[in-house]
Amino acid sequence: MQKKYSSLISELREKLKDCNTAHDIANIKSEYLGKNGYITNEFSKLRNAQESEKKKLGKELNILKSQAHDIILNTNIINNKTEERFVDVTLPGKNAFVGSRHPISITISEITKILESHGFTPVTGIEVENEYYNFEALNIPESHPSRDMHDTFYVLEDKLLRTHTSSVQIHTMLNQSAPLKIMTPGKVYRCDSDPTHSPMFHQIEGLYIDKGINFCHLKGTLIAFIDEYFGKKMEIRFRPSYFPFTEPSAEIDIRFKGKWLEVLGCGMVHHNVLENVNINPKQFSGFAFGLGIERLAMLKYGITDLRMFFENDISFLSQFERAE
Ligand code: PHE
Repeated sequence: MQKKYSSLISELREKLKDCNTAHDIANIKSEYLGKNGYITNEFSKLRNAQESEKKKLGKELNILKSQAHDIILNTNIINNKTEERFVDVTLPGKNAFVGSRHPISITISEITKILESHGFTPVTGIEVENEYYNFEALNIPESHPSRDMHDTFYVLEDKLLRTHTSSVQIHTMLNQSAPLKIMTPGKVYRCDSDPTHSPMFHQIEGLYIDKGINFCHLKGTLIAFIDEYFGKKMEIRFRPSYFPFTEPSAEIDIRFKGKWLEVLGCGMVHHNVLENVNINPKQFSGFAFGLGIERLAMLKYGITDLRMFFENDISFLSQFERAE
């Protein structure tokens, strides 16, 4: 660079040192880079320069201009004194942190994808429900223990945080009637907290109502689903159970590390439920099932404490980056 230009930069630095206010800095900026500024005027000399010199001079002037610009920009007034911020360009760059999907989100997409391939359409609904949609319409009597204040989060006397996504099924049957084949993923709430229960967890329930649906359809669908989810033929058993909204009802257990573990509840939709949503049980029948997402994720990934899903510990969560 021409000598006069390098001394111009030192001169600019000296002048900036004497600045006391941002206004002083602005004045210096216009003295050098303004319309009639020194550097700006140097550019006009380009026009008269010899053809052979033009390119070199143009390049030097551009460097000068951007140097002056950076120095002015990096000059701050601190305690009434100016200080040039020093940028250490030799420092290593910061790696951009790429997030990963939450294991629960990964599991929800895996499960919904499988169920979608069996013809179930996803439907979502509200989380603050009337007692009617969460309990009554599902044939759950007032005396049932789940309606106790100790088990359910009541918001108002007859409003609560839904305890299962079966409430969405009631809304859908009322709005769409039969036939239908839906799944309802979402958050549900129960007063429970220990290594295998949390007050909020995720469920997916399925519902298939049509003419002539029977227990064989239920078995076929759920056995296929479990094998597809775990990626291999699983040893499972259907155990008779009780749910007010299905009759007969069953729970499915899978054989896991030598033990039977319960993975989902299911059954044929109770005729009272069909009547409550104006579907004629003599014409239509159907099956329903409900499963806990955290539970299925824990089994697949070998996680023993469900609360880890909600602690936002990056070292735990980042292990699932490539899980999909
Ligand atoms: N609603 C039940 C629960 O939350 C699950 C379920 C759904 C069971 C459908 C049977 C049939 O526990």
